Amino acid sequence: MSKPEIVKPESTKPKEQFVQSVFESIAPKYDMMNDLLSFRMHKTWRKFTMQKMNVQQGDSALDVCCGTCDWTISIAEASKTGSVYGLDFSPNMLSVGQTKIDRDGWQDNITLKQGNAMDLPFEDNTFDYATIGFGLRNVPDLEKTLREMQRVVKPGGMVVCLELSKPTWQPFKGIYYFYFQNLLPLMGRVVAKSYEQYKWLPDSLIAFPGREELAGIFRNIGLQQVQAYPLTGGIAALHIGIKEKQHV
Ligand SMILES: C[S@@+](CC[C@H](N)C(=O)[O-])C[C@H]1O[C@@H](n2cnc3c(N)ncnc32)[C@H](O)[C@@H]1O
Repeated sequence: MSKPEIVKPESTKPKEQFVQSVFESIAPKYDMMNDLLSFRMHKTWRKFTMQKMNVQQGDSALDVCCGTCDWTISIAEASKTGSVYGLDFSPNMLSVGQTKIDRDGWQDNITLKQGNAMDLPFEDNTFDYATIGFGLRNVPDLEKTLREMQRVVKPGGMVVCLELSKPTWQPFKGIYYFYFQNLLPLMGRVVAKSYEQYKWLPDSLIAFPGREELAGIFRNIGLQQVQAYPLTGGIAALHIGIKEKQHV
């Protein structure tokens, strides 16, 4: 008798392939689910981040893992005349993003590219900003991604990461983890009709470094003046680092 074929569950596929398939499938509902699952808190976090970035007219930026381009568009609005790129490996996420860019009239300022966050298709020292929003958790090698972001910003330029994080204060931590690990995937199943995809969210946070640890990684790769801001009790965090002026 021949051996039965072993069907591997999705989560044992290589991370990159699995993550890509997740975002390909949830793309049409991503924005709606983002509002719902974060109780629209992501909008406040994005606003705070833009204040800290202080983008000036004409500044250039690369938004890595841009997805449906909320942050990409905010940067273009602040920069007005600068060129802004968005990069993502999911064609479906990019397609939703492009529709929003066209709708808002930013097609002359924003260029979308399909590509990998760990191997950015840009020259060294190109941008004033490299940003990554809720993307670093998803990449197989976060340090490589941050090094790539550092490579493509100009000396003195800013590497910015807005990401979910791990609250440290009990009992808030307990309530949060209960919501995140149990209720959130359930809401994903009921509203977006996909359980496995929304189960990925809490799973991806388990292996992700906490706020101080991530700040340490920013420093280790050579970023300067590193700042780490906890958001909403540490549910999310904003990390900012500056590329050294004499970076070689
Ligand atoms: C949670 S979404 C965030 C989208 C957007 N930045 C935002 O703030 O809403 C994560 C995005 O990262 C993309 N992504 C994950 N891993 C990637 C990689 N290795 N290279 C490029 N894009 C990646 C996914 O396709 C997805 O669009």
